[in-house]
Amino acid sequence: KKTDIGLIGLAVMGENLALNMESRGWNVSVYNRTVPGIEEGVVDRFVAGRAKGKNIQGYTEIADFVASIKAPRKIMMMVRAGSPVDQLMEQLFPHLSTGDILIDGGNSNFEDTERRVKLAESKGFRFVGAGVSGGEEGALNGAAIMPGGTKSAWEEVKPVLQSIAAKAKDGMPCCDWVGPGGSGHFVKMIHNGIEYGDMQLISESYWVLRNLLGLSNEELSKVFSKWNEGRLSSYLIEITANILKHKDKDGEYLIDKILDTAGQKGTGKWSVINAMELGMPLGLIASAVFERSLSSNKEVRVEASKLFHEDKEKSLYNKADMIEDVESALYASKLVSYAQGFAVLQKASDEFNWDLNLASIARMWREGCIIRSVFLNDIAAAFEAEDKPKHLLFAPYFKAEIEQMLFGWKHLVSHALKEEMPIPAFSSALNYFYSLTSSSLPANMIQAQRDYFGAHTFERVDQPRGEFFHENWTGHGGDTKSGTYNV
Ligand code: 6PG
Repeated sequence: KKTDIGLIGLAVMGENLALNMESRGWNVSVYNRTVPGIEEGVVDRFVAGRAKGKNIQGYTEIADFVASIKAPRKIMMMVRAGSPVDQLMEQLFPHLSTGDILIDGGNSNFEDTERRVKLAESKGFRFVGAGVSGGEEGALNGAAIMPGGTKSAWEEVKPVLQSIAAKAKDGMPCCDWVGPGGSGHFVKMIHNGIEYGDMQLISESYWVLRNLLGLSNEELSKVFSKWNEGRLSSYLIEITANILKHKDKDGEYLIDKILDTAGQKGTGKWSVINAMELGMPLGLIASAVFERSLSSNKEVRVEASKLFHEDKEKSLYNKADMIEDVESALYASKLVSYAQGFAVLQKASDEFNWDLNLASIARMWREGCIIRSVFLNDIAAAFEAEDKPKHLLFAPYFKAEIEQMLFGWKHLVSHALKEEMPIPAFSSALNYFYSLTSSSLPANMIQAQRDYFGAHTFERVDQPRGEFFHENWTGHGGDTKSGTYNV
């Protein structure tokens, strides 16, 4: 009997997704390549192990695997992002029939997905680039899934993908159609960028409370647990509370033994690169990416700390006040980060004609994914309002929240900086907020300088927008202007 869906790539995410599909009543074919000495017997081990007794059929030949699936075929690829996806597609193409659907569930770059959608369609096939978030646990029990690509594929893949997705409290699956081309992977990329930002903000909160208040790991764990009951309630806050109280085999706290050098696989960096390409500020996520890079160069930091740091007396402020102020700084900065991220999504949507539904994206992130939180309900509500806000911070609910947070946020930032605590994300967010809410900025000076040294021209406050002027600043410059184009 033919199966409902095929899955390629039996690493942990692939295995768990196959088991999740099967548990929802789908018959699944699985395939993994065989590489002597590296990936041998992967399929057999899975079929005889975790998949034993389940409606999962294993294949080691790609032709047999494809032939075992009901037409039009749905084949989900869970292989490493990058060239492995292209190689796999080339291997699959000769075995596919018109209308078959390939789903890429990896963390692919959205531009690769754009290209692959076109390539697959040019051969009469369909292609879905689906961001899948939630780690191993989500893959097994319910992930957030962000599919985009060939629209006609949605009706076919929807029942399977929505069945394996997490469900929000209101019962909605955390999986809905995102849009054409590489939009699904673009949305997943921004999800990951936001994940980087949230993680950096939480780390700064931990560091400030630990070093300026001297809280113990147990006390810190309690603070995060308490925050997890309120407006900051989220998966990342919850695991932070658990991490802080987790003990190593010898009874000591594991967190204190983990080397302070952060890794990264690239999606945070891509978010920032693409925001720059779109001309959009994404400073908080950028600060998170740069801070990971800086942290990873431990040798230089150790050397620099000997050159510049002396142990100074820390001036303290009231413990309860500081905990409250860190919470304000964390919440307000998080709000800025999401506002920046969603603004990039809107800009990409306009630029690439994706017609993204921001409320639907916020709803998809409410459960299953790494950034899941109660806060995403409020974001969805803000974007759903009759009077859709131009910017998330303009939504009346968030405007009121920021106003309430501002005092503690700026108090904390200025205090921490004075005490020589690195808080790149908190302060980046506050700077963004100040710039955003300034009707005048010193960019007049930048325009004057550009015109002075390069005749790049400027607009004037006393003339209509769109008219460009050049000044002969030195008396010996010419009248020739440079072009007025902007990238
Ligand atoms: C998810 C995660 C996941 C990502 C890890 C590691 O949504 O489940 O984003 O896709 O692989 O978070 O990312 P870094 O190694 O870049 O931190």
